[in-house]
Amino acid sequence: MLEKFPSAGLGPSLAYEHADATKLDELHESAQACTRCELYRDATHLVFGEGPSTAEIVLVGEQPGDKEDLAGRPFVGPAGQLLDQCLEEAGVERDRCYVTNAVKHFKYQMHGKKRLHARPNSGEVQRCAWWLGAELELLRPKLVVALGATAVSSLLGSRVRVMRDRGRILRPSGRLDVLVTVHPSALLRIREADKRKEGTLAFVADLKRISRFLRH
Ligand code: URA
Repeated sequence: MLEKFPSAGLGPSLAYEHADATKLDELHESAQACTRCELYRDATHLVFGEGPSTAEIVLVGEQPGDKEDLAGRPFVGPAGQLLDQCLEEAGVERDRCYVTNAVKHFKYQMHGKKRLHARPNSGEVQRCAWWLGAELELLRPKLVVALGATAVSSLLGSRVRVMRDRGRILRPSGRLDVLVTVHPSALLRIREADKRKEGTLAFVADLKRISRFLRH
């Protein structure tokens, strides 16, 4: 079921002001020089989206993690492996998907020698929507999948809540359809095996909505 959702004000999507480019490669190239917020200072790479320009599905995460920052590619670490596994279980072909993030630089805090993930703030998310909005404009996918709270706030604004709205496909007026679900990293943080399994099954169930939606 599709639900109309009035614009919540924060979302970039197609209505928000975004970068202008005619091709993803060109957009990627300009994003490399991004200084729209301070996060570029401590990151190794800007991590741009990846996938075919004909992708029907765009999956949006929060921001690159430690592994992604070093590799310069999205979703190559543990969360990406879990995402791939769950997409396969849900029957979604990975080569129909483009994966990207709401924020393109890794934000972290040093704990000893470790770089620990730090959540981007709303200003950083809004500034980076400049790139996400342009990616969506160029790709014009049939469905966008918001993985977790940061992607949800970037795409749909602050009135949508992940745990309340997960599994729903929302259509902000005049914009793209967005499936709301959790972030795979949240599943990796669950310590109890039974609860993690339950959470993973619920995530796969949300992802199964993708194929049903595309069949319509
Ligand atoms: N988490 C994300 O949100 N994105 C990545 O690319 C990796 C981990």
